[in-house]
Order: sequence, then C-alpha cells, then structure tokens
Amino acid sequence: MNTLLLDCLAGKSVPRPPVWLMRQAGRYQAEYLALREKHSLMTLFHEPDLICKVTELPLNQFGMDAAILFSDILLVLNALGFSLSFEEGIGPVLANPAVPGAVLQKIDVEVAFPFVRESITRLKQTLTVPLIGFAGAPFTVASYGIEGRSSKDLSRTRQWMYQLPEALDSLLDQITDVTIDLLKMQIDAGADVIQLFDTWAGTLPFDQFERFSLKYLEKIVNALSDTNVPVILFCRGSDRYAEAMAALQPAAIGVDWTCDLPLLRRRIPQNVAIQGNLDPHCLFSTPARIEKEVLRLIEYDLDRFIVNLGHGILPKTPVANVKALVDTVKNCVPSLV
Ligand code: CP3
Repeated sequence: MNTLLLDCLAGKSVPRPPVWLMRQAGRYQAEYLALREKHSLMTLFHEPDLICKVTELPLNQFGMDAAILFSDILLVLNALGFSLSFEEGIGPVLANPAVPGAVLQKIDVEVAFPFVRESITRLKQTLTVPLIGFAGAPFTVASYGIEGRSSKDLSRTRQWMYQLPEALDSLLDQITDVTIDLLKMQIDAGADVIQLFDTWAGTLPFDQFERFSLKYLEKIVNALSDTNVPVILFCRGSDRYAEAMAALQPAAIGVDWTCDLPLLRRRIPQNVAIQGNLDPHCLFSTPARIEKEVLRLIEYDLDRFIVNLGHGILPKTPVANVKALVDTVKNCVPSLV
C-alpha cells in the first residue's frame, strides 16, 4: 500500500512529496474519450462498473499516489430535485434553477447515491493508493443551482447575497446537510481522504466569502472531525483566503497557481499541508519545461507538500506531459536536488 499521501497529511516524514492531479481522469485520455463515445456523462457518473474503470484509468496510465472517485459535485443538486444535464459545448445545465425560499426534497444519501457507496467499496478492494472522496463546497454548488449553468461572474448568486441573504442561507444549509451525509457515507465506505472543491469562492468580497462560503466549509470540516479522515480544502482564488481556510484546521489547503508557495508556508500553521499549484496550461509546454517547473516547487522544500495542479487538467492536454509531471515527482530525491 502506497501511504505517501496519508503520511504527508499526517505530518510524517516522506521520502518525496506525493502527487495526484485534479481531474486526473478525463477528456485528455483516449481511453476516457472511448468510453464517452459509448456512454453519456450521466451514465458514467451513475454506473459502478464505469465509475471504477474511469477512477482507475489515470492510475494505470501514470501511477499517481492517490485515486479520486469519478463523480461530480453537481450530483448533489440533482438529488435535491434540480434537473441536471451536461450539454456539449455548454457544460452543466440545471433546467429548473433555484427559487428563493424553496424547501428542497429531503434525501437519504443511501437511496440517492447507492452507486457512490458501491463504487468506493469495490475500489477499496483493489486500489494500492489512498482513495480521495469529495464534494463541492456549498457555495459553489449553490451558485450552479442559482445560475442554472456555469457563469463567470455569478451575477444572480451575488444579487441573492445582497437582496435575499436568508434565501441563500436556506439553500446553503440544505446543501450543507446533504453534503455532510454524503461525505460521511463516502468515509464509511472507505474513502481515505476528503477534498472539498470551492471553485467559485474566489469571486467574492472577503466578508461575503466568510459569510457565505467559509461558514459552511467550517460546518462540514467540524462535522467530519471525529472521523479522523483528513480533509483538503481547495478554493480557486484562495491565495487571499489562505489564513482563513487554514484557521478551520483542515489537513491541507489546495491553492491555485497565483499563490506564492514559500510565502504561503510562512502565512499558515506548519501543521496544515499545502497542495498545488502548477498552472494547468503549463502542461501544454514540453516535458523539459514541466520537469523544471515541478522541480522548482519541490526545491522550495516546503514541509507537508502535495504536488498537484492549481485547477483541473484541461481537455487536449498531451498525455506525455502528464507523464512527465508524475515521473518528475516520482523520480526526484528532494535531498539531492
Ligand atoms: O478530479 C477528478 O478526476 C474527479 C472527478 C471530478 C469531475 N468533476 C468529473 C467531471 C471532479 C472532482 C469534479 C468536480 C467539479 N465538477 C467541480 C469542482 C472542480 C473544478 O473543476 O472546478 C465543478 C465546478 C464541477 C462542475 C462541472 N462538471 C463542470 C463545470 C463541468 C463541465 C466543464 C468541464 O470541465 O468539462 C463538469 C463535467 C465534468 N465533471 C467532466 C468531468 C471529467 C467533463 C467530462 C466530459 O465532458 O466528458
């Protein structure tokens, strides 16, 4: 069993940093595209055979130090009664966006997400690396519910913040409750680590971040604390939120490429690990350039460091470059570089 990631998150000394990549399973892989020819994305997210197969694709191809369950943060909205589809060239679409004050249906996660439990149970029988379970941060999930699709400025959500704060709180509360149940189920089924994705928190003024994002992240981190499963908090645009995120005492925070890592190490407590932060666009360069960038991060010699990207791998990323990234980490001997 490769325990590099768990050891690093627990503050044990490790021979090299662990490496895994956000969106490590996806459209840049020919094997994934072949499965997508045959199945819709919703089918891929709901069938345990396919979930397990896709989760394992990058491990078989590159040998990362962790697996991440193949799923999506928006399935929670779907379970709450929002009709979700993924449309070519658009992305996720919620046909019935949130209505202020609506009371959403109550969910039993065992009934709504049996495929998640089944897939984690099966994966745990064969994986030789830790399995990362995940969910979206309530703010990011709620923003999709309100906007109905991807939006760069979250205009409607930000109007709710000022005009309908109680309705927004009520939506966030309902999403938070389901998310806690879902994550507890993932942990019960065997997830070794949990990551929370707050992709859109970076669009908020700081006080609104604390009020509508951080508060709900804190509820989740606290609700999971007695499981002793490490939690990684990833926010895009997190550089300016790093201290606030670290104050929740997650095992790690994930940061995007805008963050200066040596400075970050001095800003947050030593017992919070740092995950990141290569620019996914760097993976369109050459193996030599990627090696240089990865070694630069490793040579910072940050205590408790996990190599990752600052956001997910982009479609069309050359697989040879993903291999170069992972191989550079696996072959490095930090004390000698
Ligand atoms: O990281 C992994 O490999 C695990 C799987 C995973 C997916 N989505 C699969 C997926 C994870 C962790 C997510 C999280 C997710 N989903 C986030 C947070 C992280 C981030 O990327 O910002 C968000 C905002 C979503 C919502 C979502 N799902 C969008 C906006 C889209 C379309 C845009 C895009 O990137 O294609 C999806 C679809 C989706 N989820 C794909 C994958 C692999 C694309 C698949 C396809 O089109 O075949």
